[in-house]
Amino acid sequence: MNTQSLQLSIVIPTFNEVANVQEVVRRVEAAMGATAWEIIFVDDDSPDGTANQVRELACRDPRVRCLQRVGRRGLSTACIEGMMAASGPILAVMDADLQHDESILPDMLDKLRHGCDVVIGTRYAQGGGTGDWDEKRKQMSLLATRVSHLVLKQPVSDPMSGFFMLDRRVLDECVRGLSGMGFKILLDLLATSQRKLRIGEVPYQFRTRIHGESKLDHMVMWEYGMLLADKLIGRWIPVRFLAFSIIGGVGVFVHMLILTLALKAMGMDFSHAQTGATVITMVFNFALNNSVTYRDQRLKGGAWFRGLLSFMLACSIGAIANIGIATYLFEHRTAWLPAALAGILVGAVWNYAITKIYTWGKK
Ligand code: GDD
Ligand code: MN
Repeated sequence: MNTQSLQLSIVIPTFNEVANVQEVVRRVEAAMGATAWEIIFVDDDSPDGTANQVRELACRDPRVRCLQRVGRRGLSTACIEGMMAASGPILAVMDADLQHDESILPDMLDKLRHGCDVVIGTRYAQGGGTGDWDEKRKQMSLLATRVSHLVLKQPVSDPMSGFFMLDRRVLDECVRGLSGMGFKILLDLLATSQRKLRIGEVPYQFRTRIHGESKLDHMVMWEYGMLLADKLIGRWIPVRFLAFSIIGGVGVFVHMLILTLALKAMGMDFSHAQTGATVITMVFNFALNNSVTYRDQRLKGGAWFRGLLSFMLACSIGAIANIGIATYLFEHRTAWLPAALAGILVGAVWNYAITKIYTWGKK
């Protein structure tokens, strides 16, 4: 047995990184010298066989482990669960794709041991850089960084960084308050922590990806918005409910559009047009909620259709509750507008609560 006790746990989230994992382990080993480390890969059931590749490496080197999650997606939750599975007193998070410069790990560790709670690998300080990013991505990243000050308690040059190190105690203190949404786990940690953290920064050059591709897509801005909303108002309103309600609002427009088309262009009678519009809007709302609100646990294949059925059933009961309550209030001397709004609110809360459990909940 190795007599040196473990000093650093490195958490590496992966999705389709089969061509990178061996090299990233090799580079960490070369960078860390005599420091005792472990690596925990957190893989979201990558179809390219990343998890098997990691386990193959782990058979030869017990410092490497694989945490394979099934039916889940999400960079932030992967990092959180990897950190919770790690044993070391100091934790690092790093990408698998070799874009983060592992050679600064010893510097980061040094800073952490000399009084920092968190050390961030930064691209926005002297000596750092974003490599071959195009102008659009640079602008987006800078904008996101600026907006992050809404939730940050102290300035840091690169709160969007996916490369950082922290004292395990920082995680212990705030893990129960983390949002776990989207890509920005560092921002989540910094915004959740209740105390003033001592933060260190080590600049590095963001490298070009050679194997595999980026998982950042058009939803990244939405997820970032949801993370900020959760940090700002999540204490009072669950942001999934917010997303669910926004989509419900969009659904009203879709309904009216279909109804108008059916009545005016197709000459249908009202009750058929209204029924058709209702059914199509339910399918629309379900599909959108599935790929946006519940993106991290989206239903696919057969589960998609079962989900749709339970969603339609729940929303039908919600509609009955909505009409019942609004009618009751209206008949008991409430004006039509507040009566209608109360009905809508009750219906929305019902739909959200029931579909959260029966449509997207774990069975
Ligand atoms: N487990 C898991 N689940 N891993 C994921 C997921 C997921 O849903 N999505 C991405 N990953 C892994 C990738 O395999 C990679 O190792 C790492 O997370 C980063 O993903 P990329 O797709 O390469 O992101 P990027 O290069 O565009 O952006 C990265 O760098 C930015 C700057 O540091 C991310 O780390 C960003 O969060 C960061 O802001
Ligand atoms: Mn990358």
